Amino acid sequence: MKATLLSLAVLAMTATEVVAFPAIGAEHAQKIAESQRGKRSTLARSPRKKRVTFDAASQYTSTTGAHAFVPPNFAAGDVRGPCPGLNAAANHGYIPHNGVGTLGNFVNGTNEAYGMALDLGGFLAVYGSVFDGNLLGYSIGGPTSNSQLPLNNLLGLTGAPQGLSGSHNKYEADTSPTRGDLYLYGNNYEVQVPQFQHYYDALIEGVDADTQYANLIDYRIARFNDSITRNPYFFYSPFAGVLVSPAGFSFPVRMMANHSETFPEGSLSKEQLMSFFAITGKSGNFKYTVGHERIPDNWYKRAIGDEYTIPGFLADVLDFGEKYPPLLDVGGNTGKVDSFTFVDLGSLTKGVFAAGDLLHGNNLECYGLQVSQAALPDILGGAETDIGDLTQVLKPLSDTVAERLLGLGCPKLDGIDKSQYNIFPGYNNCPNGCSGYKA
Ligand code: HEM
Ligand SMILES: *[C@@H]1O[C@H](CO)[C@@H](O)[C@H](O)[C@H]1NC(C)=O
Ligand SMILES: *[C@@H]1O[C@H](CO)[C@@H](O)[C@H](O)[C@H]1NC(C)=O
Ligand SMILES: *[C@@H]1O[C@H](CO)[C@@H](O)[C@H](O)[C@H]1NC(C)=O
Repeated sequence: MKATLLSLAVLAMTATEVVAFPAIGAEHAQKIAESQRGKRSTLARSPRKKRVTFDAASQYTSTTGAHAFVPPNFAAGDVRGPCPGLNAAANHGYIPHNGVGTLGNFVNGTNEAYGMALDLGGFLAVYGSVFDGNLLGYSIGGPTSNSQLPLNNLLGLTGAPQGLSGSHNKYEADTSPTRGDLYLYGNNYEVQVPQFQHYYDALIEGVDADTQYANLIDYRIARFNDSITRNPYFFYSPFAGVLVSPAGFSFPVRMMANHSETFPEGSLSKEQLMSFFAITGKSGNFKYTVGHERIPDNWYKRAIGDEYTIPGFLADVLDFGEKYPPLLDVGGNTGKVDSFTFVDLGSLTKGVFAAGDLLHGNNLECYGLQVSQAALPDILGGAETDIGDLTQVLKPLSDTVAERLLGLGCPKLDGIDKSQYNIFPGYNNCPNGCSGYKA
């Protein structure tokens, strides 16, 4: 009975439907994705050959009228969380102002405001809905009465969605650029100003986004090192760690950069970085105002036709992975600082992938797509007993994954061996998402 109703509810919302927006067209997005597949790095292209042209009219992102900046009213129940891109989108009405949206809201809003491609926005949105939300949508902050399951009673599932802020190890990860490690700060969603200062200092102005990204590698390594040397609970998981945490370093230069005739591929200024991260004041004396992430006025997003796709993002992940291979390895500290231990990829994947494999061919995508299904959805309430429920709840994601895997020629992953994580307290004390470690 339960399963039947659940299947009906899930059927009502297939993954393909989610990304089928008339405005841009899934087919178009797919073509862009295809054209980028296999390209190792955007840096490999000739800088002289401009990939895109600038068109002010279509790239302007409105910050007036319906899109004027309105900060959250926390007392009235608005929520904000670890993602500055979504926080700013909510403050400007590109996604619902209360911070709780449907899949369609997120896919459309991130495309409209930033030029995030439908494949990437769609995947991230489905992932959030399945693991941290109610299948139809999710909260960009913590749990809220606005994201109670419309389907809850119908489905007979009792777990409460915890939102992005409660998704530590599932979606939200340690070693983020500006957000602190959960164990160290008891908070994983607010800016730690010294970290922001470091990011600000590391950003080189007046060069194109590709060059800016390449120069962020030292900052990325320093953040990784900081977690190793200060956080005994540091855990770097296959999905939230290896695949999501790099987004914090690439997304700003790829999707918060302003575009112009001079920099058709974008160039992010320090001032724009401050605005998107809710920072005011002077360097050395920054002030952070929670929830005030803001899209700058007179700001131009990525060119239409040059949206930031899954292959584009993976090229950026590989770029840093090649320069510093530990970034692609799962591992963590074992309860003391400086005890970082790698998980053997072969053992974790039951022999399907071996160390070093992820740098080759489609392997990173093959691995990432398949390990993305390893977490437990909040709405199951921590009960993994009913495999039927789990399969059904994962369906929107497994359908999306199955569709993307077609044609990639991936070795098939038959689950992962989570016992490999037993030595990591950062995982053991928060195996399925959490918003805090017990003291
Ligand atoms: C549906 C779309 C999106 C989802 C579900 C999402 C979700 C998340 C999550 C869960 C995190 C925390 C990751 C971590 O702890 O390392 C995060 C961080 C981040 N996101 Fe998003 N995001 C989305 C779109 C965007 C967009 C469009 C941008 C940029 C315009 C963006 C920029 C960032 C940045 C810069 C961080 C790192 C924050 C920091 O620690 O400094 N995101 N996002
Ligand atoms: C997408 O968002 C824009 C602006 O936020 C809105 O005007 C448009 O109606 C939305 N489209 C869909 C299909 O939701
Ligand atoms: C890592 O951090 C330690 C302690 O802060 C420092 O001594 C070391 O130089 C750092 N290493 C790198 C590669 O940044
Ligand atoms: C973005 O670039 C345009 C030129 O295309 C410029 O007029 C505008 O001031 C810049 N916006 C910001 C926020 O820096």
